[in-house]
Amino acid sequence: MAVPRRLTSQAIRGRKGARFPVVTAYDAPFGRCAEAAGFDVILVGDSLGMVVLGYDSTTQVTLEDMSRHAGAVARGTDRAHLIVDMPFGSYESSDEHAIASAVALVRAGASSAKLEGGANIAPRIAAIARAGIPVVAHIGVLPQTAALASGYRRKTDRRALLADARAVQEAGAFAVVLEMVDPESAAETTATLSIPTIGIGAGVACDGQVLVLHDVLGLYPHAPPFAKRYAELASDATAALRAFADDVRTGAFPVAATEHARDVAPAQPYASIARGPEA
Ligand code: KIV
Repeated sequence: MAVPRRLTSQAIRGRKGARFPVVTAYDAPFGRCAEAAGFDVILVGDSLGMVVLGYDSTTQVTLEDMSRHAGAVARGTDRAHLIVDMPFGSYESSDEHAIASAVALVRAGASSAKLEGGANIAPRIAAIARAGIPVVAHIGVLPQTAALASGYRRKTDRRALLADARAVQEAGAFAVVLEMVDPESAAETTATLSIPTIGIGAGVACDGQVLVLHDVLGLYPHAPPFAKRYAELASDATAALRAFADDVRTGAFPVAATEHARDVAPAQPYASIARGPEA
């Protein structure tokens, strides 16, 4: 029997009660870094819109954007389960549209599809799951519509959250993201559900924790208060680029022709960038 190459949704469902990390990635090199760091669940989030594409919200992100970046992360990774966001406008109007969009993401490399909404979106979750595509739900603050509705205020209505959480589990989601939910409600939701909760700004009780890559690495100027920076790559990159520019201006780079002779250029210098050089 063929062994699935990537971690399955059933394996993630089995992590209920275990603490597991999730990080976003949007391209092959950082997908590769995340997998090398031990992440076996990676989210290709539509936060892509802000942290990579320069929009000020996720609503401009298209299915084509998500497919392109899901494909890039898939090419940079081997084993990680890739949850890919269904962007705004790709699932709301009908079950058929939602299934077609989820199929496009799977064709691009997704292991599962994530969509925003609770009880209101449960029929779409059920339809996609019935089509054989594993689904992750996303409740609490919903960035795709936050600016159009209640904004980015933390969700504290425990009964509403529990009702949404139960509805998405019942519909067939194998995990649920809780975004900016008060920690007590997140703890109760986590204790109530049989599927894992993955928190972002939702306290310590969630089964998994997810952060946006650019917040973890210090690559984006504005990080939400619940995020933790583990590096300052934007300032490191600026310093490295300044050093290169200075070297060109002062003549320190390039080095003399005799030095270059030692660097034999490979025939295809970027050929193996996705998964690294073959061993
Ligand atoms: O798009 C994204 O990165 C997300 C996380 C905030 C959970 O959905």
